[in-house]
Amino acid sequence: MFGKNTITITDNRTGKAYELPVESGTIRALDLRKIKTDENDFGLMTYDPAFTNTASCKSAITFIDGDKGILEYRGYPIEELAEKSTFLEVAWLLLKGELPTAAELKEFTHHVSIHTYLHENLKKLMEGFRHDAHPMGMLLSTVGALSTFYPDAKQIFDAKSRNHHVIRLIAKMPTIAAFVYRHSIGFPYVYPDNELSYTGNFLSMMKKMAEPRYVVNPVLERALDVLFILHADHEQNCSTNAMRSVGSAHTDPYSSVAAATAALYGPLHGGANEAVLRMLHELGDIKNVPAFVKDVKEGSGEKRLMGFGHRVYKNYDPRATVIKKLAEQVFEVTGKNPLLAIALELERIALQDDYFVKRKLYPNVDFYSGLIYEALGFHSDFFTVLFAIPRTAGWLAQWQELLSDADQKIARPRQVFTGSPRRSYVPIEKRELTRS
Ligand code: SDX
Repeated sequence: MFGKNTITITDNRTGKAYELPVESGTIRALDLRKIKTDENDFGLMTYDPAFTNTASCKSAITFIDGDKGILEYRGYPIEELAEKSTFLEVAWLLLKGELPTAAELKEFTHHVSIHTYLHENLKKLMEGFRHDAHPMGMLLSTVGALSTFYPDAKQIFDAKSRNHHVIRLIAKMPTIAAFVYRHSIGFPYVYPDNELSYTGNFLSMMKKMAEPRYVVNPVLERALDVLFILHADHEQNCSTNAMRSVGSAHTDPYSSVAAATAALYGPLHGGANEAVLRMLHELGDIKNVPAFVKDVKEGSGEKRLMGFGHRVYKNYDPRATVIKKLAEQVFEVTGKNPLLAIALELERIALQDDYFVKRKLYPNVDFYSGLIYEALGFHSDFFTVLFAIPRTAGWLAQWQELLSDADQKIARPRQVFTGSPRRSYVPIEKRELTRS
């Protein structure tokens, strides 16, 4: 009886037993519909708000073991990629499934470098934003607007066209981000310098002033490239779920990336790096840490230790470990961020406090990244833009995988209806009388 890849469910409402196949540690939710009380019964569904225990897809891109704190892109450990790879090489790996050959990487890098410019009309669109418009609001709007410049992007099943727009998005996200930043500080836009590296060009578009050519600091250029590697993908996170859900309607990639960017904007997701810096600035001094931690523990959940906790990691986020080391290298160039001492004290207390230990709350990718971004001179409301740039490669890899998955169709969850039973229309003159 044992050793079979099935489970048997006994429905105690009817006494009937059902044997369901188990595949990859899951049962097909649709198999539950066989479990009925009578012929008129719709059959069982699962109720899983926020998909805490639901696999929405099969994917070969990123593997996470939350208990062991493991993260691998296409089988390669994140720690090795952060040490030995580059963001564009990792983008290729995520998209194609293998590390590129030297020729493939050279060609990919060339194609990305010649697609960094934006249509001049987009500058007029961006001029319409207030000077204090949030950079993420500008980014998601401008990416969405890009879809109107490339109507052929709708040909999502034409592999050549699809690949062209994947490259365009990876190439243009840094340019849009840099233009957004320059708009927010009232500086003229700096056009791409295609002789520079992906992150070198981005820093040039962000920082260049009157000098003939921006001189890239190699330590900062590499630090940003490593941060981009660490943020490139993370399996079925909230924004990737948005990318897949919108993409399942066969929406073009620009509009789908705009939707994913909107999800990343949320403070519980990519917006957490900005929230961490706000939290550290509000703390202001290491002596305020104990009282803050007490508030978090005794509150009803509205005050959180931002940058801590994760739906999947119930151990240290391996990206946080790499970022923490990277911070020291950056601070040697930029000078130590005074908020680091407060962050380290928050971590020290949290890792020994039962409230956090019991809930397995550890620093995640957002806890230390903001300290580096601030040391690089970026405003905190720009931090999530720095997350969106590299994550575009992951979103596009997941989107491509969705389109080639025969199991997939338009995403359309069910619901448990808790509303009013059927009732007749009430004429307006009688309504006050009937409202309970
Ligand atoms: C990212 O999914 C991904 O992969 C995302 C990401 C990626 O690369 O795409 O890794 C990037 O989004 C990282 C997470 C960034 N967000 C934050 O740092 C915001 C602070 N953290 C949380 O709000 C929270 O930890 C989440 C949203 C990240 C995870 O939330 P879950 O899995 O839904 O957990 P939960 O909200 O149900 O919390 C479980 C318990 C609760 O307490 P009880 O109700 O059991 O008493 O833990 C508590 C929560 O109140 N809790 C926290 C906490 N996070 C959870 N308490 C204090 N501080 C926190 N940060």
